[in-house]
Amino acid sequence: MKNLVTSLRVVFVSVLLAVAVTAGAYAADRPILSGADCIKCHSAAPADIAANGGAHKTSVGCQDCHAGHPPSVKKIIPACSQCHSGKAHYNLSSCMRCHNNPHTPKIIKLANNITDECLTCHTEQVVKLKQVKSKHSNLACSFCHNVHGKIPLCTQCHKPHSTDMVATECKKCHQAHMPTAVFMTPDTPNKMCASCHKRAFEKLAGSDARHKNVLCVTCHKDKHKTIPSCQSCHGVPHPASMMSRFTKCGDCHSVAHKLNHWEPGTLKTGDKEAPIPLPKKGAKKK
Ligand code: HEC
Ligand code: HEC
Ligand code: HEC
Ligand code: HEC
Ligand code: HEC
Ligand code: HEC
Ligand code: HEC
Ligand code: HEC
Ligand code: HEC
Ligand code: HEC
Ligand code: HEC
Ligand code: HEC
Repeated sequence: MKNLVTSLRVVFVSVLLAVAVTAGAYAADRPILSGADCIKCHSAAPADIAANGGAHKTSVGCQDCHAGHPPSVKKIIPACSQCHSGKAHYNLSSCMRCHNNPHTPKIIKLANNITDECLTCHTEQVVKLKQVKSKHSNLACSFCHNVHGKIPLCTQCHKPHSTDMVATECKKCHQAHMPTAVFMTPDTPNKMCASCHKRAFEKLAGSDARHKNVLCVTCHKDKHKTIPSCQSCHGVPHPASMMSRFTKCGDCHSVAHKLNHWEPGTLKTGDKEAPIPLPKKGAKKK
């Protein structure tokens, strides 16, 4: 190792000499190096910058950051704060925890326990995570976003509710940063509810009433567990005199998932399903 360093120093000095002589600016203590010379002895940094240098390639050169060179100048590693200041983000400690390589500044590797630092740029998500407490609220941002900008699939960590449910469908009902506040989007197909509500699904599918063609989420809309009133869609379909005697729609129509279905004009007093004389208006179909 010592030998290597010694021989490197020899090479170093002779290259510096050559460089300095060519440049016509020889000085015993402070030979002049140009950015083009670095590659003669260093391969990794120039290659990294060429491939992924970003603004550290286009806006600055090697020597804006590395002023001078050992042995004549000892400290040539710059502080980030030399050029970056004035934003909350630039006050974080140890920049290179995330910007692991200054020669590839936008290639960011994140440890799995980072939250506070993200908040210097993203604020919406943590508001949601705090507003609706769930087990996700206890996870660090980078536990899920382990590469900056990457969006994980829910199915990386969770099983779908049924075998025919795919990852892109989770967001019909869930939001990542408030997963327990289940809101249904209005086009959610019935089979997705069926994975947990088999009985309701089968009852409705087996019914011959026209509710069969109504989506679950048309009735149970927005927030999960909402139960609609019949009147919210049908208003007051029958005369008040009738409704004062039979206060509940279900007294005659049974349940929404399997309405009693009568052919118009077939109902008589004494019928088991509708043991009352029907008002004319109510008996009219369409
Ligand atoms: C003649 C070969 C040679 C050339 C040309 C050269 N270097 Fe070096 N560089 C070295 C050697 C050898 C070391 C190790 C020196 C030491 O540890 O004392 C080194 C170390 C460094 C270090 C690390 C310093 C530290 O404190 O860890 C940086 C940064 C550096 N060089 C940047 C540059 C830049 C920028 C250029 C072009 C302007 C350049 N080098 C050109 C040979 C060279
Ligand atoms: C934006 C500032 C910046 C620019 C531009 C830059 N560097 Fe660096 N460089 C650094 C910092 C900071 C370190 C210290 C990295 C560390 O501590 O791991 C470093 C480390 C080095 C090292 C020593 C460690 C290593 O990776 O071998 C060398 C050699 C080096 N740079 C060469 C170069 C060369 C050659 C260029 C131009 C092609 C260049 N640097 C451009 C900031 C910069
Ligand atoms: C010699 C000045 C200088 C130093 C030192 C420096 N940078 Fe930069 N950096 C710049 C300039 C100039 C830009 C482009 C303008 C801007 O974004 O501020 C830049 C841009 C960046 C970018 C965005 C890159 C892109 O492609 O958009 C990151 C990330 C970055 N710097 C991180 C760092 C980190 C981390 C350090 C310390 C290891 C550092 N910089 C040290 C000058 C510097
Ligand atoms: C916890 C991780 C983390 C730490 C620590 C961190 N950064 Fe960043 N930084 C990021 C992420 C993520 C981005 C966004 C990159 C993008 O836009 O793709 C970023 C972007 C940047 C940018 C470009 C965007 C801008 O705001 O101009 C600069 C410059 C930068 N960081 C400098 C720094 C400096 C300087 C430090 C230390 C004081 C630092 N970073 C510490 C993660 C971090
Ligand atoms: C310096 C500012 C900065 C920091 C720090 C930062 N980001 Fe970002 N982030 C950005 C920018 C800029 C974008 C790209 C623009 C956008 O889509 O909002 C982005 C994009 C993202 C995206 C993708 C957004 C999309 O719509 O596809 C995610 C996810 C993300 N960041 C998560 C994080 C996490 C997690 C952290 C902390 C580990 C973090 N960011 C730290 C600036 C930052
Ligand atoms: C990187 C892994 C990861 C990803 C990605 C992820 N989760 Fe989670 N999720 C967890 C962990 C860990 C828990 C807590 C499990 C436990 O303690 O039982 C959890 C819990 C939950 C819970 C229960 C919350 C509670 O408080 O009871 C729901 C609902 C949930 N996740 C939905 C989702 C949805 C929907 C997505 C996609 C938008 C998703 N998760 C993405 C890791 C993840
Ligand atoms: C349980 C895993 C998980 C955690 C923890 C998590 N996210 Fe996300 N994040 C996701 C998923 C999944 C998406 C995609 C959401 C979608 O497609 O609707 C996302 C989307 C994003 C986006 C893109 C814009 C948006 O809001 O949809 C940003 C930015 C983001 N997250 C930042 C963060 C930040 C910052 C934190 C920490 C405060 C965080 N995330 C915590 C899983 C998570
Ligand atoms: C049709 C709406 C809907 C869709 C689509 C959906 N979920 Fe859910 N999910 C729910 C409801 C409702 C609950 C809450 C059940 C409860 O209250 O116990 C839940 C609960 C969860 C839980 C908490 C633990 C559990 O199993 O009860 C996880 C984890 C979860 N969902 C993940 C997912 C993932 C992953 C996807 C996509 C593959 C997904 N969900 C798609 C409605 C849905
Ligand atoms: C992950 C499983 C899951 C999914 C998917 C799911 N639910 Fe639920 N649902 C539940 C659980 C658990 C309950 C609570 C049961 C209880 O309290 O008896 C519930 C309760 C309900 C209730 C209230 C029942 C009552 O007695 O008050 C309605 C209405 C409901 N769900 C409708 C739906 C609809 C519509 C969908 C599809 C868009 C759906 N659910 C998707 C698990 C789920
Ligand atoms: C979200 C709106 C909605 C809610 C809530 C709702 N319905 Fe309906 N109902 C409909 C639609 C849409 C139809 C079909 C109309 C058509 O096809 O012309 C319908 C049809 C009917 C029919 C005729 C059935 C047939 O097959 O001829 C009856 C009776 C009925 N609803 C009673 C009820 C009762 C009782 C309730 C409460 C338990 C209720 N509805 C709740 C929307 C709703
Ligand atoms: C006393 C029994 C009874 C009660 C109580 C009752 N209905 Fe009816 N309703 C009927 C009968 C019988 C019909 C006509 C049969 C048919 O058309 O299927 C009817 C017809 C309807 C229709 C029209 C169906 C069509 O084909 O257009 C709707 C909608 C309806 N009822 C909704 C309701 C609602 C909502 C309530 C509660 C506010 C309610 N009904 C209460 C007996 C009743
Ligand atoms: C036309 C409106 C309508 C449609 C469509 C509908 N529901 Fe309902 N649902 C109701 C009403 C109203 C109730 C309250 C009980 C009643 O009056 O029938 C209810 C009750 C429930 C309940 C709690 C009691 C029970 O019967 O289990 C669940 C769970 C439920 N619905 C799930 C579903 C699912 C899943 C679907 C689709 C497969 C669905 N509903 C379709 C209106 C509807």
